[in-house]
Amino acid sequence: MSVATSAKTTDEIETIDGERQRLIHQSRLFRPFTKRLFLDAGIGPGMRVLELGSGAGDVALLLAELVGPTGAVVGMDRDPRAIDLARAREGDIPTISFVERDPRDLDVDGEFDACVGCLFVTLESDPLMIVRRAVRSVRPGGVVAFQDMDFTVMPPPSWPASPLLNLCGDLVDRAFRWRRRGHGPRHL
Ligand SMILES: C[S@@+](CC[C@H](N)C(=O)[O-])C[C@H]1O[C@@H](n2cnc3c(N)ncnc32)[C@H](O)[C@@H]1O
Repeated sequence: MSVATSAKTTDEIETIDGERQRLIHQSRLFRPFTKRLFLDAGIGPGMRVLELGSGAGDVALLLAELVGPTGAVVGMDRDPRAIDLARAREGDIPTISFVERDPRDLDVDGEFDACVGCLFVTLESDPLMIVRRAVRSVRPGGVVAFQDMDFTVMPPPSWPASPLLNLCGDLVDRAFRWRRRGHGPRHL
């Protein structure tokens, strides 16, 4: 089922900067896994879903397909440029809305059937707090599902062993640790 008939393609939107282009490409790469996760988690028609760290809006568009015309999707991000782009790409699909807000300030009780986040919670200095708020935002028995990378498995498994892969893994791990200590741009 598809409700994304009025969504704009990236070619139809003239000004997308490098970081948001990266998010769009990254989300395309992850899409089959993201969809599988949501289906396995039980997200389906008619559900009201909150997405934390919605970025350029790709995950919200996928969710809108899954919940269909009787569901609703709310994307939340603290980066105004991401929100503007997500709104432009979504076009005028009535089931999707985006709010500019830091997910750390999330303060709702049981309003949603599901709360999800993709490639977001790893960036957080206090991921447990985010998960707790996500749990509080859904009704009893609701769904909470996060998709993210696990950097605790280091070096990355490889056969035969690859020194270059190990080096890359180490650099990525260090970059995320640095990010979680609050360094770097707010929108990454
Ligand atoms: C790597 S992007 C992922 C975007 C989207 N979920 C996707 O999969 O395409 C992370 C997003 O989380 C947002 N974000 C919102 N609140 C954040 C926070 N407290 N810490 C880190 N990132 C945050 C960033 O602005 C960014 O848009």
